[in-house]
Amino acid sequence: MEDADLVGVQKTLSPVLRAKALDNRLPDPILGDEYAEQAMRRLDPGYDKRGFGTSQLGLAAVVRAKAHDDWARSFLADHPGAVVLHLGCGLDARVYRIDPPATVDWYDLDYPAIIELRHQFLPPREHYTLIGSSVTDLTWLDRVPHGRPVLMIAEGLVPYLSETDVRRLLTGVVDAFPTGQLQFDTVSVWAWRTSKWDPTLRRYGTRFHCGFADPAALADWHPRLEYVDEAPMNDSPVLMAKAPANVRRLYRLMNLLPGMKRSSRIVRFRF
Ligand SMILES: C[S@@+](CC[C@H](N)C(=O)[O-])C[C@H]1O[C@@H](n2cnc3c(N)ncnc32)[C@H](O)[C@@H]1O
Repeated sequence: MEDADLVGVQKTLSPVLRAKALDNRLPDPILGDEYAEQAMRRLDPGYDKRGFGTSQLGLAAVVRAKAHDDWARSFLADHPGAVVLHLGCGLDARVYRIDPPATVDWYDLDYPAIIELRHQFLPPREHYTLIGSSVTDLTWLDRVPHGRPVLMIAEGLVPYLSETDVRRLLTGVVDAFPTGQLQFDTVSVWAWRTSKWDPTLRRYGTRFHCGFADPAALADWHPRLEYVDEAPMNDSPVLMAKAPANVRRLYRLMNLLPGMKRSSRIVRFRF
């Protein structure tokens, strides 16, 4: 297993990648990401011994990725000269799935150890740059071109940052670009507070560091920022259509509890 050197929060990329790899083996996959399968096999050759399981990080992670992809495709169709900041990218192969035109400059950012793995597992491409840095050290913003529309995607990242760092990041990006779209996912206050008991996160030696009762209110952090909308996650029709009967039952049950239904939310803002 080559991910033995990853520490703490870096290990969280593995269950998400595994879900995307397993999806690719379904007869009618949601994402259909061959790169996820290749990278996961390198990370953990025995990854497919167990199925999706009923956890949040099963099919729901694939549904979340699809929602981010759909929003990204639609933004790039309207802004073919955009700069993409894909933050906390892990080993996600979004740039290959979306395959943007050469007019788009795409930046994938994660800790240096993850970027090193990306170099080993995933091929290079034109107009595509890897940045090995903590997202909270905002000097990385000096390494990307400003003056163009920006698309910031942070999938599965925000809950691992402190609220102060999330605020600095969002306002920093808005200040650096003339216009753009920010899309990310958040967890509820309840999910944040209880994350210290989450068995998977405990095993990885990490936990969530922020949660939001109403992520739309983050628009108040900057006068130019405007909340757009939210994509369905735990009650997503795609999830319900694809999940096996036992998982579907579990989600239906969970979704009866408002706190669980909205425990994870995928949100989009523009400025
Ligand atoms: C749950 S994984 C998600 C990975 C990827 N976005 C995906 O959906 O497949 C969280 C990722 O955020 C990265 N991460 C967490 N905190 C970070 C930070 N301060 N700076 C850069 N990356 C960070 C981790 O290394 C990890 O790759």
